Amino acid sequence: MCGIVGYVGHRQALDVVLGGLRRMEYRGYDSAGVAVLDGAGSLTVERKAGRLANLESALDTTGRDAFTGTAGMGHTRWATHGAPVDRNSHPHRDSSDRVAVVHNGIIENFAALRAELEAAGVELTSDTDTETTAHLIARAFDEGDTKGDLAASVRTVCRRLEGAFTLVVTHADQPDLIVAARRSSPLVVGVGEGETFVASDVAAFIEHTREAVELGQDQLVVIDRDGYVVTDFDGEPAQGKPFTVDWDLSAAEKGGHEYFMLKEIEEQPDALANTLRGHFESGRIVLDEQRIADQDLRDVDKVFVVACGSAYHSGLVAKYAIEHWCRLPVEVELASEFRYRDPVLDRDTLVVAVSQSGETADTLEAVRHARTQKARVLAVCNTNGAQIPRESDAVLYTHAGPEIGVASTKAFLAQIAANYLVGLALAQARGTKYPDEVAREFSELEAMPAAVHKVLSTVEQVRDLGRRMADSKAVLFLGRHVGFPVALEGALKLKELAYMHAEGFAAGELKHGPIALIEEGLPVVVVMPSPKGRAVLHAKLVSNISEIQARGARTIVIAEEGDDTVRPFADELVEVPAVPTLLQPLVSTVPLQVLAAEIARTRGYDVDKPRNLAKSVTVE
Ligand code: F6R
Repeated sequence: MCGIVGYVGHRQALDVVLGGLRRMEYRGYDSAGVAVLDGAGSLTVERKAGRLANLESALDTTGRDAFTGTAGMGHTRWATHGAPVDRNSHPHRDSSDRVAVVHNGIIENFAALRAELEAAGVELTSDTDTETTAHLIARAFDEGDTKGDLAASVRTVCRRLEGAFTLVVTHADQPDLIVAARRSSPLVVGVGEGETFVASDVAAFIEHTREAVELGQDQLVVIDRDGYVVTDFDGEPAQGKPFTVDWDLSAAEKGGHEYFMLKEIEEQPDALANTLRGHFESGRIVLDEQRIADQDLRDVDKVFVVACGSAYHSGLVAKYAIEHWCRLPVEVELASEFRYRDPVLDRDTLVVAVSQSGETADTLEAVRHARTQKARVLAVCNTNGAQIPRESDAVLYTHAGPEIGVASTKAFLAQIAANYLVGLALAQARGTKYPDEVAREFSELEAMPAAVHKVLSTVEQVRDLGRRMADSKAVLFLGRHVGFPVALEGALKLKELAYMHAEGFAAGELKHGPIALIEEGLPVVVVMPSPKGRAVLHAKLVSNISEIQARGARTIVIAEEGDDTVRPFADELVEVPAVPTLLQPLVSTVPLQVLAAEIARTRGYDVDKPRNLAKSVTVE
């Protein structure tokens, strides 16, 4: 939550910072702001509530010429402390307007810091936790051992802060450098020719450089146009971890699509292929990083998948495969509940933490809790070097590429594929599958990009259906077996994008309550199992459909090609390719993503930036 960017170099900082913010708006869009320092140490700030477009209009009114300078910073906000109004927007300044700060995260002891500042006569002008840091840094810069040294001043203040934060700080008296610091919130450095960047995400500077450096926990970096220097919060020299970003600017742009989500839906075959690539070598499943001994993997006797939202649904799908392949009990748990209920964990428990961003606060805390209980943690993550993989014992990266639409699409499919690889790795380690069986399962997975590509031919049919469903008040989703989590995911997509009441149910539960919701014309989306692969469940779902149809529901059926039995019960039929049962979610989810996006678009909503949401949920 919140996107931040900082720049020191040879270009106009305002242009670089605004370019970065445009690609990080997915992290929050309650307000946006910029600060630019000119070489003479004059600090110019503009900030506006609402989307980045509001800030850009304000800059046009003020005149962009006022923002001349080659060092600057910017922020796009998801509000935590204080309403999304101009005065709570970042950057925040100290009383003398010499320090500017942007912040991502929550400073948990801000009330005490605020009281201390007020007692010292400082007048605070916002309701935010962030503003306290601007005043504290300014005071540290003016006195004692840290006098005149911005990096030392920021370190002193960071040592006093509790909570999660990334801070980017400038001081008018040191206009050639920017200081940034992080604890449990993301921060990467971009290293260019004669210019250096800091940002929450490499997307902010990918247009200028692909050379990046990831910072560790409680580290601080000073950037200037010649490079960067990293220390810990005590000022001891420290090392960042350099890496080269393996995608380019086009991946972070719409590329002619009306919105990112549609582009990302269409990128799903590539996301799957890239996630699988390189993970089956010399007849064995291989993870990206493995700091768990093979013997410990063999000894695993219980698996927990912990995650939030769509990532949680990917775990629900994986449970069917992992239990089937590995003969291990698998519990799938919302990360926000996990550590509050004293789960039974020990060194033979494997906790699989699934997160696109790798920075979701609840999932990160679940990882930490699991590790204190001696469980092994394996991260499935889409973001290189994010906090969750850093704190895990093993990592499998999903190579879905940057996902800019707030609603997860290609990352979700890639998570399912990666979770399956985890299942196969476990089956291989435990010997519950012979090598040729593992090879066969992997080759079935390898056929999925083509199958998903085929589903994309239904996009226009589903968009048309979405336009016709846009007036509905509510939609129900039904599924069984692996189709149940798909129903949950379809409902989540519709809620978050179209702000429509939507519920997913296990179809077998219908008669235990939900059938009372059925009324004339209510759209019910049914995810059918294969008539061949799951004949018994298929027959039961056909009965369920006929029951709800008899009560007036309008049935929208996602079924395997050639499934003629279900056809008479489908008011609308969307056909997906026949694939092995466990892999069916990879094809049946796609029409539900398109449906939600098109209903949202028809209702006039911003598909990529649904209200109240942000892509990375870094606060609990
Ligand atoms: C829904 C969605 C969210 C995320 C959830 C977890 O479309 O995107 O439910 O799946 O916030 O995020 P990550 O995977 O970053 O931990």
